[in-house]
Amino acid sequence: MTIQTSSTRLVFLFSFLLVLFSCGDKEKIEPNTSDLIPPSSVAISNISDNAFRVDWTSVSGAEGYEATVARDDSFTDLVQPYVDLRENGTGINVISLDTSTTYYVRIRTIIDGEKSAFSTTVNGTTLGAAGAEPTNALKDEATTFAVGMAVRVNNLSGQYDAIYKREFNSLTAEYEMKMNIMYPSQGNYDFTRADAIVDYAQENGMHVHGHALIWHAATPSWVENFSGTDQEFEDMVEDYIKTTVTRYIGKVRSWDVVNEAIEDGNGQLRNSVFLQRMGTDYIKKCHQWVREADPNVLIFYNDYNMVSSNTKRNAALAVVDQLIPEDLIDGFGFQMHISYNGPSKSQIANAAKDVTDRNLLLHFSELDVRANPDNNMTMLTETRAIEQQQKYKEVVEVYNAIPTDSKFALTVWGLKDNESWLQNFWGHIDWPLMYDDQFNIKKSHTGFLEGLQ
Ligand code: XIL
Repeated sequence: MTIQTSSTRLVFLFSFLLVLFSCGDKEKIEPNTSDLIPPSSVAISNISDNAFRVDWTSVSGAEGYEATVARDDSFTDLVQPYVDLRENGTGINVISLDTSTTYYVRIRTIIDGEKSAFSTTVNGTTLGAAGAEPTNALKDEATTFAVGMAVRVNNLSGQYDAIYKREFNSLTAEYEMKMNIMYPSQGNYDFTRADAIVDYAQENGMHVHGHALIWHAATPSWVENFSGTDQEFEDMVEDYIKTTVTRYIGKVRSWDVVNEAIEDGNGQLRNSVFLQRMGTDYIKKCHQWVREADPNVLIFYNDYNMVSSNTKRNAALAVVDQLIPEDLIDGFGFQMHISYNGPSKSQIANAAKDVTDRNLLLHFSELDVRANPDNNMTMLTETRAIEQQQKYKEVVEVYNAIPTDSKFALTVWGLKDNESWLQNFWGHIDWPLMYDDQFNIKKSHTGFLEGLQ
């Protein structure tokens, strides 16, 4: 009995020590060795022209994974930001890729801060742009109005040239037909760049929308600081307008005469040097000089926030209403620098009606659609690209539905996202146009086509 008891005790003590020992041992050896393995399988799916999805099998005990994407299978040409990109789940969308390009992907597991070996490398090739979005030419699909593009002299060759000829039948100079370029110093006109744009359009059977004879933001300093009398100032402006308009008779279909004459907020006439020197009817005078120089050219008033600000639109309409009875205006340009999330389709339609009810031509003159107005994105996501596509579609639907007699043109303010004026204007990245940085057609272009259905 005594012996039995003491041997039972011994066995118990031994088992207890064994358990203790093995517990300590287990804590020391369990992680990081046998379990620290890469995912056994990695797969690419949902390949488009600029994105694909990568999924991998989970690894037991993993606290996360690292994904790396490269353009070569030895992983020297790495694709940012997919370089050792930490992920907690077992899949990622790889976006903003080039078309028709092969990408290589590998994954490793992280446990307790330690990284496994790399998984097997998998690869996928993005589609060609033509396969992803329809390439129908805008000007072929828009049969009742012109499709315009803002251009620069330095970008009239190569891929620009090919796309302009295929897609557009109207051009606007983005900045080279403004006063600071065409009339840089008193008595010295310089039409070199304006001529180049007009000649290019002529050679390719395109309209030219002249933009813009008078604009406070493109007024040369010699005009801002004009040293003569008010009468001399007015004579100078008359000479400038008549010289310019006469030069392009039969070549320029329409002119924005005074651009952005209304102040933001209060709807007053902008306090420009033209208002100060020529008085409150300076717009009428300028329109009159255009009519006298070329009785056939179409005369437009052009401004921004014409949809989003009722105050500003009504102030512009009040100016326009003084010109209509004297036959000194033919059309109204809404610049249409808008965002993916506004203004709404009905707001755009209502504002358009204010113009078409007056039997004026309506020009959507500088369309771009910001995808990143809140500056919280570093790349254009699929979701946002689709939202932007929807806004392009709505704009075109509204324009396509206005009365035929008011149809004129829908002009887009630039070709490629990376060259949009908005990058500088807002000081951060955006993707507001219909072509990406590599001349690939974007979903927004598809939205334009859809709006014509
Ligand atoms: C912008 C051009 O895009 C820029 O290249 C230039 O430096 C400044 O002007 N409203 C207008 C356009 O009427 O003329 C402006 O174009 C954009 C805002």
